[in-house]
Order: sequence, then structure tokens, then C-alpha cells
Amino acid sequence: MSGRTVLVTGGTGGIGKATARGLAALGARVAITARDGGRAVAAAAEIRAPGGPPVEVFVGDMSAQSEVRRLGAELLAALPRIDVLVNNVGGFWNSRHVTSDGLELTFALNHLTPFLLTHLLAGRLIEGAPARVVTVSSDAQRLGRIDFDDLQGERSWSGQRAYNQSKLANILFTYELARRLDGTGVTANVLHPGIVRTGFGAEDPGRIQRVIMPFAPLVMKTPERGALTSIHVASSPEVEGVTGRFFANCRPRRSSRRSYDRDDARRLWTVSAGLVGVDPDTALTGPRRSTS
Ligand SMILES: NC(=O)c1ccc[n+]([C@@H]2O[C@H](COP(=O)([O-])OP(=O)(O)OC[C@H]3O[C@@H](n4cnc5c(N)ncnc54)[C@H](OP(=O)(O)O)[C@@H]3O)[C@@H](O)[C@H]2O)c1
Repeated sequence: MSGRTVLVTGGTGGIGKATARGLAALGARVAITARDGGRAVAAAAEIRAPGGPPVEVFVGDMSAQSEVRRLGAELLAALPRIDVLVNNVGGFWNSRHVTSDGLELTFALNHLTPFLLTHLLAGRLIEGAPARVVTVSSDAQRLGRIDFDDLQGERSWSGQRAYNQSKLANILFTYELARRLDGTGVTANVLHPGIVRTGFGAEDPGRIQRVIMPFAPLVMKTPERGALTSIHVASSPEVEGVTGRFFANCRPRRSSRRSYDRDDARRLWTVSAGLVGVDPDTALTGPRRSTS
């Protein structure tokens, strides 16, 4: 990864920090986003490879669209190239929280944030292609349904249902993104990291998290193992040119039947574009490159 620049969102802990550390060890210039300046600086020191360049940090609450837009502008000003964008930020909340934009937090942070950030950085990725967009989903996608009539759980709420939906949205987004980026040299893939011992769900845990936590050291992967698929999809020569695929345990796998529904993918794209205020049809254009 020498000479390549990688951006990992949510790089202060868990899978994101381990992914950033793994990619820095492979020689990449690494930047992370974080919502807390102190945690960001501490994580950057841990991520930096011996003798490698300092890790750059970009601080903002990514549940707020104004912050994502500010971060996007700062990233474009600071990073002359972005070879890999790892959309890792995300979480689980048992109760319904509303962001400063008036949106449900799980849907906003897990789906709309990578959707908007990818739009903001797409031009930079395309300019420097070949480049990769890697989005961290979950096998919870298999239980997910996109409820277009109640996307934000206003009528009926379950934290698990909201999480499952957001992780299916990551996959529908990635498959549609891959189709829209066809011919640009930028690939889009999505993955399940495994069940990983992190800060996941700790702010507002559900019953499953509370039951599993005492057994976490026995049944869950370490963050380093949980980051292996993200690192593989972000860096492996085997994945060069591969696009629109779902990975688990560093291998391509089939995702849920619903995730291949192109009508749902297009509809979700249009609805999401409306919610973040981007043009659903022209936002991802850039110089076209030959894929031959
Ligand atoms: N852990 C698992 O078993 C598992 C399984 C499948 C998929 N995943 C997925 O893996 C990804 C990473 O999760 P994780 O398990 O590593 O969780 P984690 O330890 O909670 O890490 C989440 C990261 O996101 C950051 N973050 C959270 N809310 C934010 C906000 N509003 N603005 C900016 N940054 C924010 C956190 O920052 P702070 O340091 O400030 O908290 C942290 O760096 C998520 O997309 C999750 O859905 C996890």
C-alpha cells in the first residue's frame, strides 16, 4: 500500500482502528475520522506504523450532515489523493434516537453518512483511480428489510430491526454504487467483519449485547481478526478490479436475496439522495477511464 492514501471512518476504536493499523503496517498513508479529538489523537499514535508517516485525524460528529459536509471539505483540502475509502463508522442503539437533522440515528449514521461521504469524495477517488470504496456491513443484513413506508421507525420501533435494515442498506447502496461507478476505475465492495469484541452497542445496548457481553472473550473475534476482511478488500491485489461483491472471512459470498433487488437499490438511492440533498443522477460523474 506504499504511496496509497486510505481514509477509515470511525478509526478511534474497534474494527476501524484495527483496520487503520493494519493498512498503515502495509505502508499506506492513513487518515481517520473520529468524533472526539482526544480519542482521535490517542488512536492515531497507536495506528502509526514504526517509521511511517503520522496518521491524519479529522474530527466531527458524523451523525450530523453539516459535519459530514465540513469533514468532506477538510478531507478534500488535506488529501490530494484518496485511493481507498473505508466506510466503517456505524453502531447499534436499542432505543430510538434522533439526530440534529431530525433523522433516526441508526439509519442516519450507518447508511446516510457513508452515502453522503462517498458522494462528497467520489470525484477525488475517480481522479486517482484505480481506487476502492469499502463499506462495513454485517450479516445482520440477512434479517434486514427496507421498510420504505417507515424508514426511520417513526410508526414502529425496534433497535435490532433498525440495525438490520441499515446493514441491508449498506449492501443495496454498494451494489448500486458499483453499477454507477462502472467504467470509472473505482470499485465498491461491502463486507461482514464477523462477530467482533469492540465498543459496538455499548452506548445503548440491547438484550442480545447484554447477554453476549460476559462471554465476549470466548465467542468473539479480536478487533485485529475482525479487521482482516476490511484490510483484504481494501488492499489485496486479488480484489483489484472486483466490484459489487459482498465479502466475509476474506472471501466473496452471496448476500441476502433482498440485497440483489435492483428496484429497491434504485429506490433507496433516490430516497437517500433526497434526505442528504444530493442529485440522485449526476452526483457521481467524473472523468471516464477505460477498464480494458
Ligand atoms: N462488532 C461487531 O461484532 C460487528 C459485526 C458486524 C458489523 N459491525 C460493523 O462494524 C463497524 C464498526 O463497528 P465496531 O464494532 O468497531 O464498533 P465501535 O467499537 O463502537 O466503533 C465505532 C467507531 O465509530 C465511531 N463513531 C460512533 N458514532 C459516531 C459518530 N456519531 N460520529 C463519528 N464517529 C462515530 C466511534 O467513535 P468513538 O470512539 O467516539 O466511540 C468508533 O470509532 C460498524 O459499521 C458496525 O456496524 C460490527
